[in-house]
Amino acid sequence: MSQILIRPAAPDDAALLGVIGPAAYAEAYAFLWDQPGAYAAHLATFGAEAFAAALARPRTRIWIAEVDGAAVGFLLMNLDTPDPVAARPGGAELARIYLLGVARGRGLGERLLEAAIATARAEGAAYAWLDAMAAADWARGAYAKWGFHETGRIRFEKGTRPELSDMVVMVRALD
Ligand SMILES: CC(C)(COP(=O)(O)OP(=O)(O)OC[C@H]1O[C@@H](n2cnc3c(N)ncnc32)[C@H](O)[C@@H]1OP(=O)(O)O)[C@@H](O)C(=O)NCCC(=O)NCCS
Repeated sequence: MSQILIRPAAPDDAALLGVIGPAAYAEAYAFLWDQPGAYAAHLATFGAEAFAAALARPRTRIWIAEVDGAAVGFLLMNLDTPDPVAARPGGAELARIYLLGVARGRGLGERLLEAAIATARAEGAAYAWLDAMAAADWARGAYAKWGFHETGRIRFEKGTRPELSDMVVMVRALD
């Protein structure tokens, strides 16, 4: 049996996150991109420097999922962030949740989510929200299973193929 651990990230995890972040993103979403420069720039937002900056933000929380001592995924949450559709206060944004491909389908995503939801509740958030690429059936399916429902659509404006740039915004009440 594999040993699974969900733990809060520490400041010195930036390098580790900077390895699994771009890998997990690229495994799932390379098909969205046709402009090399835009893709490279987006991958850099998953790099060690970006994680170091995120870990230093006072209202950002990151958890790491480990299997047998190896980090295989993470969740990044921004507290006090209103959703982009209704702009209601009291939002906790689940900004990024990524597992390496080989670690998907084992319940790790839900374990990461539970850790974030517990903290969001403890911090007084009224709801959690996220946006997902409309083309990512696997992510939308997971979020629906985890109690999120779609509240609107926005566009991802970072240079992905226009026909694949729709995003769904999904919300889950916490009270
Ligand atoms: C999205 C993600 C975090 C989900 O975590 P996970 O632990 O792998 O979740 P699972 O694969 O166990 O799926 C959970 C549920 O999602 C749904 N699901 C999974 N794949 C699906 C698909 N292709 N279509 C529809 N629903 C799907 C199912 O309801 C599934 O539950 P089940 O296995 O009991 O049927 C993970 O798959 C991941 O990191 N994917 C790559 C990166 C990514 O897309 N991140 C989201 C960015 S918005």
